[in-house]
This record gives sequence, C-alpha cells and structure tokens, in this order.
Amino acid sequence: MVTKLYPTLDGKVAVLTGAARGIGKAVADALIENNCKVVIGDILEKEGQEVVDAYNEKAGSKVAAFIRTDVTKYSDNIALFKLAETEFGGVDIALMNAGIATGADSMFTPLDGNLELILKKEMAQIIYHLSYNTDATDDRIIDINTTAVIKGTKVALLHMAKRGGGSIVLMASMAGLYCAPNLSSYNASKHAVVGYTRSFQLMPSICNVRVNALCPFWIDTELAAHIRNSDYEKASHAKVISRSRYATMECLVEGFMTLTTDESRNTQTLKVLPDGLEIEPSSVAPDSFSGNADRETLAEFFPAAVAAGKRALAEALARYEQQQ
Ligand SMILES: NC(=O)c1ccc[n+]([C@@H]2O[C@H](COP(=O)([O-])OP(=O)(O)OC[C@H]3O[C@@H](n4cnc5c(N)ncnc54)[C@H](O)[C@@H]3O)[C@@H](O)[C@H]2O)c1
Repeated sequence: MVTKLYPTLDGKVAVLTGAARGIGKAVADALIENNCKVVIGDILEKEGQEVVDAYNEKAGSKVAAFIRTDVTKYSDNIALFKLAETEFGGVDIALMNAGIATGADSMFTPLDGNLELILKKEMAQIIYHLSYNTDATDDRIIDINTTAVIKGTKVALLHMAKRGGGSIVLMASMAGLYCAPNLSSYNASKHAVVGYTRSFQLMPSICNVRVNALCPFWIDTELAAHIRNSDYEKASHAKVISRSRYATMECLVEGFMTLTTDESRNTQTLKVLPDGLEIEPSSVAPDSFSGNADRETLAEFFPAAVAAGKRALAEALARYEQQQ
C-alpha cells in the first residue's frame, strides 16, 4: 500500500488496539511510514510481537512496542498506555480498534448458555483463549466492541491530557449507523460507539483532545471473512456480502489520517465507503428541544460544564498518578 505522508505526524506517539492484523495493522503501517512511534496492544501475542519486530528491524532502532492486551480489562489498557509513556515519552494519538463479530447474530442463540450449541468451530478458534461464562455470547461482543472502547478512551484521555492534547479515533462501523437485520448485537455494539463519540463536544475545551469515529463498510479482513463464512450467514447474508463492493484499506487509512491530522474535526463520524470517505451528519435535535429560554440556559451550561470537566479531570489525574 502506498502511504501518503502527513508532515504533522512526524515524531508523534500512537497507541493502537487490535493492530496485530487487519485494519489496525494497516493503520500502524501507515503511522510507521509517517515516522510515528507505535505501541500495539492485542490478545494475539505472536502476531503482535512479529508486527513490531518487523517495524524495529526495518527502522534499525526502536520505533514500536507490543504488549499483550485484553481491551476489556482496565489493568491491560493502563499497562498499554504506560508502556507508550515509558518507551516513547507519552501518547499523542490513539486508535481504539479491537473488535469482534462473534455473536453478531444473536436473536435466537440459546438462552441456557450451552457452549456446545453456541460455539461453532470458527467462533471457538477466535475466542478459545478467553474465559467464558454461560452468558458469554451476548456479553462478549458488547464487552469488546463497546465497553472496552469506553475504558480505553478514558485511559487515553488521561495520558493525552497530561501531554497537553491529542487525537483519539474510535472504530465504529457502518453497522453503527445502519442495520443489517442479522447483525443485531454487532449493530448495537457499534451504534453505542457512535453515540459515545458524539458525546465529546466539550473535550477540546477541557483538555485539547479530539475524539472522532470511523464507520467502515465491508473491508476484506478476517472479521469480514468470519461473517461471510459462518453457517447461518451462508444461507443469506453471506451472499449479499460476497456480492457487495468493499471499501478499500487505503480509503480507511486516509480516513484515519484525516481525523487525526485535521484539528477542526471533533465528534465526527466518518463513513469509509466503496466510493470514498463521507461525513455522516449528527441527527438534528427536534424543534421542541429549543426555544429562547433553553438557548439561554444552554449558553450558561457550556462554560459551566467545561469548568466542571476541568475540575473532574484534575481529580482523575491525581487519582491516576496515586494509583500507579
Ligand atoms: N472488516 C470490516 O469489514 C469492518 C467493517 C467495519 C468495522 N470494522 C471494525 O474494525 C475493527 C478491526 O476489525 P478487522 O476487520 O481488522 O478484524 P480482525 O479480526 O482482523 O482484527 C481485530 C483485531 O482485534 C483483536 N482483538 C479482538 N478481541 C480483542 C481483545 N479482547 N483485546 C485486544 N484485542 C482484541 C484481534 O486479535 C485482532 O487482531 C473492529 O472493531 C471491527 O468491528 C471492521
């Protein structure tokens, strides 16, 4: 892949989750080409280590580091961002990308948690290393795709606030904006990421951190292949997916770079489509939300909320330093 160069990225430090392969790795490749330092957290230890070894060997110096990270755990997220700080002095850029499609189509999966029934072979390959309880199918996709994004973002905010600012990109999906009927839990997990992204209106004023999301259509990775090949999908959705045009990895990387380098962008949801990049506008509030009295209240609310945010951040940073 030919990488476009973005001069403002030179020397920046980036943390990426789920970048041992697929979309995350493609973004990491582009960041390395742009002279960034890269720190990768993933559950795939061998693959992740190989990726950073290759970067370091090519550069002839330490430009990348890997640590086994299960994004669902605060302790792992903290260790990941701390590693970026000890190795490269701080964090400027983050991509919260780790995600799964296992359990996407959950409307009629068993309620009794019978793993024999729930875990088809290909699912087992992906999740065998994770400890599972009987509610696993429904819990895990939300844990990884949604809750872990919130946890990682909270840790990223603290590190970037210390640094004086930064850019966080969250990995949503077109499934965060539109719904294929047989990806119900995946749709829910990604709609939540879109809502979370749109909640960061005040963050540039609080600590100079911008948060945006990418919403890719199909991109040919192992995750897409997993959905394409799963038994249920073979009967229906697989046909649709295999006949669809895919978005390209080049377009996705350009989308990431745009959100990261363009300082005017915040709370944006950027679609990565077969025909290119396109901003998905936020929904417009109904007329009944506004009115003169509300506008005045809102005018008072924003500065007050920024001041409260700054106080809460200072307390969170003090707590964070104490805990470590
Ligand atoms: N490929 C697509 O068509 C597509 C479309 C829209 C959105 N996405 C999103 O893009 C992201 C990357 O997906 P991909 O297509 O590259 O798939 P992928 O399966 O190739 O990569 C996902 C990565 O996440 C890692 N991961 C999974 N669970 C983890 C955990 N608990 N902790 C740490 N790492 C974990 C995996 O080991 C893997 O390296 C996902 O969030 C996915 O939902 C993909």
